[in-house]
Order: sequence, then C-alpha cells, then structure tokens
Amino acid sequence: MEFIKLKDGHEIPQIGLGVFRTPEGEVTKEAVKSALQAGYRHIDTAKIYGNEKSTGEGIKASGVDRKDIFLTTKLWNDDIRAGKTREVFAESLRLLDTDYVDLYLIHWPVEKREQAWLEMVKLQEEGKIRSIGVSNFQQHHLEELACVSDVVPVVDQIESNPYFQNQELIDYCQSRGICVEVWSPLGGSVDNRILTDETLTDIARKYGKSVAQVIIRWHMQRGVVVLPKSTHEDRIRQNIDVFDFALTKQDMDRIRALDKNERTGADPDHFDF
Ligand code: A2P
Repeated sequence: MEFIKLKDGHEIPQIGLGVFRTPEGEVTKEAVKSALQAGYRHIDTAKIYGNEKSTGEGIKASGVDRKDIFLTTKLWNDDIRAGKTREVFAESLRLLDTDYVDLYLIHWPVEKREQAWLEMVKLQEEGKIRSIGVSNFQQHHLEELACVSDVVPVVDQIESNPYFQNQELIDYCQSRGICVEVWSPLGGSVDNRILTDETLTDIARKYGKSVAQVIIRWHMQRGVVVLPKSTHEDRIRQNIDVFDFALTKQDMDRIRALDKNERTGADPDHFDF
C-alpha cells in the first residue's frame, strides 16, 4: 500500500474501501472483512450510510488490529444544523465499537458548519479524532472556513472520476496542502458508462488490467486518495491490485481528455438535503 502524509503528520493509505450504498448487516460486514483480509487498511463510512455498526463488526471479524486501520466517518447535515456534533460523534464511536476515529469529516457544506468545525477541533484536542477534514467543500467553502478557524482541514473528500475530473478544485487543494480523497472514483453505481468507455477499455487491454484498475491507478498518479466501493470480494481484491503497473504520461493525458464535466452526484453549491 502507498501512503500520503497529511498536513497534521498522520499518514493515510491511498486506497480505501468506500461503503456508500452498502447495506447494513452481513453485506457491509463481509465487504469490510474481505477488504481488510485482502490487504486494505482504510475504510470510509458515514453516519448517513447507516452501516457504522456493521463496519465495526467487519473490522472485528477481520482479525486486523484496530490500530493498523485508518477509519473515517462523517458528520451528517441534519446534525450539523441541529448543533449536535458532540452527541452524534459519540454515537458513531459507539456503533463503530471503537474509542477513536482516524478521520472525521463534515459531510456537506450546510449552514452552521462553522460551529461544527469548532466542536470537531475540540474533539481532536481531546484525542477522540486523529485528523479532521471536510467533504464536498468547494474552494469558497474552504476559504470561508479559514475566516473562523486557524485549523485547516487536512482532507477534502470530493467527487471525481474520468468524466467529472474536478481538476481545478484538486489543484487548489493540493496547492494548499489539503489532501484530496475522491468518492465514486469509478463513476458510481447509477448508470455507469465509464466502466465500458472505449478509450479506457483500450488502455486497460494494453496493460492487461481491468478498466476499474486503470481508473484507480490514474487517480493514484494524480496524488489523490481513492475510495472504490464494491460488495463483491473479487472486485474488492482487484481494486487493490494496482501496484504492479504505472500509466505512461501519454495514457494519463488520454484519460485527462475524457473529462465531460458531468457530475454523477449532487452539486455542493446547489443541493437540498
Ligand atoms: P459492486 O458493488 O456491485 O461491485 P464507485 O465509483 O462509487 O466506487 O462505484 C463503483 C461501482 O462499480 C459500484 O457499483 C461497484 O458495484 C462497481 N465496481 C466496483 N469495483 C469494480 C470492478 N473492479 N469492476 C467492475 N465494477 C466494479
């Protein structure tokens, strides 16, 4: 596994298992367990996914030491609006059956996020969170946060895939030392046309890899943390088997040219949840 050093000194494994749309119960438990047993050391969940309990059970069932796992969860929008950061964070710890998380994120840039951030800074000082960050923040959201706190998020988790590369925001974050994590790195699970894209299929054939592996490798070579989701053990294994090849600059450029600026998810400047 490769690691990226965060601004606060902690290291984050560059590939993690994302468990969005992975149902609570055996499915999540098995996915988390399979991933950890296959060599993953990074799991990304969120309160709103409703699967923190099974994520914790998967970690226990894997036999991998908690201290060797980078675990992320996220603070949900309604709880930010209601000013309930401290109590819902405690509930996440209880469900995950752990006494700390490696990374806690503001899930979306909703109103009252500044108060939530100040509370997260305190929780970090108390040792219950190793690193704090944000998700779905645009450049202006990051700039606004900097006006109320000197503590800079070490991570911004945003949407990025070959058809929605989000490169300008990635460049901005990287120029400020903010590590970018990407969600739906393969283009998500709804009407996914990326996994059958002709150019990507052509590149994949050349390296003897799958399209998913080529996309994951492309993200890694852009210096971002990749969070592919799968509930299938063979795919979970495949998605981490990306350390034995590297894309040439020419192939990186071919993928760069696929950008359609087409989001699969919500726009952080216009959402209603
Ligand atoms: P599944 O869970 O059925 O494997 P994302 O971009 O959000 O990570 O979404 C990935 C989507 O692609 C999921 O729907 C997942 O479905 C599927 N997927 C994940 N890994 C692979 C793979 N290696 N090959 C093909 N499909 C994959």
